[in-house]
Amino acid sequence: MRAIAEAPSKVILTGEHFVVHGAWALAAALPRKVRVEVSESSHLRVISDRPSSSKTQGLHPILSVVEAIGREFSFAPHLSVTISSEIPEGAGLGSSSSTMVAVSAAISRIHSLGFKASDIIRFSMVGEKEVHGHPSGIDAAACVIGGVILFKSGNAPKKLSFKGRRSVLVAISGMKRSTRRLIRSVEGVKEIYPSLFMGLTEAASEVSLMAADRLAAGDMEGLGRLLSFNHAALSTIGTSNRTLNGLVDLALSLGAYGAKLTGAGGGGSIVAVAPEGKEKSIIWGLRRRGFDAFRADIPVSGVRSWLE
Ligand code: MEV
Repeated sequence: MRAIAEAPSKVILTGEHFVVHGAWALAAALPRKVRVEVSESSHLRVISDRPSSSKTQGLHPILSVVEAIGREFSFAPHLSVTISSEIPEGAGLGSSSSTMVAVSAAISRIHSLGFKASDIIRFSMVGEKEVHGHPSGIDAAACVIGGVILFKSGNAPKKLSFKGRRSVLVAISGMKRSTRRLIRSVEGVKEIYPSLFMGLTEAASEVSLMAADRLAAGDMEGLGRLLSFNHAALSTIGTSNRTLNGLVDLALSLGAYGAKLTGAGGGGSIVAVAPEGKEKSIIWGLRRRGFDAFRADIPVSGVRSWLE
């Protein structure tokens, strides 16, 4: 018998980085996913098709998640864990959180632990902290809960309800970066300009609440304006660069309502929203310039697991 879990990727629509410092942020689960298969074994073994796994540190955070669950529920973590991922790494789309979430959910399923969403998030965070330093938890929450969530540290995530579907455009810059390093550099900015940083954090929080409202209402033009506003704040704290600014400008010049970097920045991806009739031509325009770009329809369901 084996347990399978599939967790979606994610995109941060507004509020990244500021969420680490207490702001509300808005995130959506995306269709590309990680699949994890877990079965009983004579010892703990993790096999992954993720390129980073060949590096020494690559599998360690995953082993830590498995061992943390084993310790708390008093079982020897003798499991075979196989990971296959459709999510590009280092692209700001939640490849690591999606993996930790799927691993936690699959172990809960194989050992009948009955994990609730909050348990899956808690155990995923063991691995996420190893990878990113001190992340807010928004990535794991988005992959567990699915749909679109408003997230603020210390509060239960709020799932947005809305009728119908919305779509977002994502373009991957191709530049990999370290979330851990960017979180640290933003902390440095906060130390140098504490009051300015506090003002930006409050603004980002307000932007996220307004963006949730616009998205739920289906006002993509209004949402786009807020994305662009948020990009300016993220540039101010040093998380953008010429490539990302160029990608944002390109999306806007091709007709997007608004665009911004998404996730940690410094590389990774941008997210944009556009008038319905223009989405295809924007994607082609981005691809013609050599960027991997795609449209994703939301909402998408959160992590699912089952036995086979
Ligand atoms: C990364 O997807 C989002 C950050 O805000 C870090 C975090 O909240 O954990 C940069």
